[in-house]
Amino acid sequence: MTAARPRILTGDTPTGQLHLGHWVGSVKRRVELQDTHDCYFILANYHAFTTRSDKPQEIRRDTIAIVKDYLAMGIDPEKSTIFLQSEIPAIHELAFLFAMLLPFNRVMRNPTLKTEIETKGLGDTYSFGFPLYAVGQCADILAFRPVGVPVGEDQVPHLELTREVGRRFNQMYCGVPTDARDEDHEKLGGVWPVPRAEVGKVGRLVGIDGKNKMSKSLGNAIFIGDTPKEVENKVKKIFTGRQSPTEPGDTGNALFQYVEAFIEDPERVAELKRRYAAGDNLGDGHVKVEVAAAINRLLEPMRERRARIGDDDAVVLDILKKGCARANVTAEETLERARKAAGLHFFQRRLEYGTR
Ligand code: TRP
Repeated sequence: MTAARPRILTGDTPTGQLHLGHWVGSVKRRVELQDTHDCYFILANYHAFTTRSDKPQEIRRDTIAIVKDYLAMGIDPEKSTIFLQSEIPAIHELAFLFAMLLPFNRVMRNPTLKTEIETKGLGDTYSFGFPLYAVGQCADILAFRPVGVPVGEDQVPHLELTREVGRRFNQMYCGVPTDARDEDHEKLGGVWPVPRAEVGKVGRLVGIDGKNKMSKSLGNAIFIGDTPKEVENKVKKIFTGRQSPTEPGDTGNALFQYVEAFIEDPERVAELKRRYAAGDNLGDGHVKVEVAAAINRLLEPMRERRARIGDDDAVVLDILKKGCARANVTAEETLERARKAAGLHFFQRRLEYGTR
């Protein structure tokens, strides 16, 4: 049944615990896509080495932690393939080929790389592997021949690079005409479709400081593992600057972003907005109680699932092993086609996977 579904791929670089910003910005959508699409979720643990190569054990821990959070949030390994980048050799072989098809300056022009160099303070001492990760990401994607890649706005430059190198490969090695439409590449003999970036409508959630995007490192995040009390206390801190319940409030403020994101009943949302905007005796504290309750309702089943997984990594490793085995079947098939197209298909080979 799943074979007929359109395939999508997306993923994360493991950085630790997931928070409500991840839920709102991406994971919620993935949970929905599981029922309509053949979903591949990659944990880009090699990419984590671009900036933390001195902390491999931390990366390993974060990778396991993120899988637990995925499962808690409702990603279902029976429906989707969750896998580790580091267990898919085809990705790294494709990355090497793609690196030859992309001008060095083209890679370096990528605005997401430039922003990262700035925000992470990498200066001019970043590793050779840092910009290489953008080429690697092309391979993460094309190895699975997805039609779409659901991502946030910041990933769009990586998708542009992916689409470019995908087209170039299909044209150079597979005889796809240079004026072919993107939609026709596979039909015309290309190894992969030219994948679409599917940019979500919801942006990243603002943090409880009311200023910055929610982020673990900024200390303004609500984690899915937070207790009900912690959630209440954090929601109380959401900063609005409003003085009194009779002061007309700004329904575009941080608190109302939470109202929109977490209160499910649209009529209730509309009523809260109307009364808040009118200064109709609706205090921030009152709204916060409702927001915290709504978040806790959302988190409750996640907490239960998370508790069932517990501290035992064995369950997670088993899920990953199955996911990697499945992912390797697809990626090896892609690689075989790509090697054939590029005249690299000398001998038959078979990856023996997961014997340990
Ligand atoms: N670069 C992405 C991020 O930091 C993670 C990622 C790696 C990814 N490979 C991918 C996302 C392939 C989508 C598709 O969030």
